[in-house]
Amino acid sequence: MFSTLLLLVAALIALVMLIILLFGLALYLCAVFPYSMLTPPFVPSSRKLTTLIAETLDLKPSSVMYELGAGDMRVSIACWRKEPNAAYIGIDKHMLPRILARFNIWRYGAGKQVSVHEGDLYATDLTKATHVYCYLFPQAMQKLLPKFQKELKSGSLVVSLDFEIKGEEPERTIDLTPYNLHLGKTLYVYRF
Ligand SMILES: C[S@@+](CC[C@H](N)C(=O)[O-])C[C@H]1O[C@@H](n2cnc3c(N)ncnc32)[C@H](O)[C@@H]1O
Repeated sequence: MFSTLLLLVAALIALVMLIILLFGLALYLCAVFPYSMLTPPFVPSSRKLTTLIAETLDLKPSSVMYELGAGDMRVSIACWRKEPNAAYIGIDKHMLPRILARFNIWRYGAGKQVSVHEGDLYATDLTKATHVYCYLFPQAMQKLLPKFQKELKSGSLVVSLDFEIKGEEPERTIDLTPYNLHLGKTLYVYRF
């Protein structure tokens, strides 16, 4: 009797774990497929680069940073650890990255200054931004250019991993080949 009960409990636990696993897998597939050149999939920036990106963004206590296509917000959190008084806003249309971002925000206790929101990055109001971080696709950066020109305050910094904005002269570019990464070859820094 006792062993049957034990077996039943074990089976129930296994079933719940399987459901959680399948739900996680479904969320992951939704965040990765289908993607288009204007809807980049959830592929986070390399952890090896977050310190360099935070140094490059160089936020001040009064800064407001938007991470467009927030992912798990590892970059925003690295920036927050360097400058905990600035404000960090992540925008992501997919549920899985937002769940991971919320978990990271909670894990680091960054909830006062870091937040993530469901939304379309192309429809996000950037008028309050002083800094923007993107790891998207070339077409996405091109679509964002007129928005940057129209909405960003003079002097705002846009940092893009791997994808340049054609027709816009970067203030500087940082060669990432010494990091020897599969993804992450160049950091583009634009001043608007
Ligand atoms: C390449 S990942 C970058 C994630 C994160 N910024 C990083 O560097 O680790 C791109 C992210 O953009 C999100 N995304 C794609 N299209 C979007 C859109 N139109 N609006 C909001 N988020 C979008 C994806 O869900 C994904 O999390």
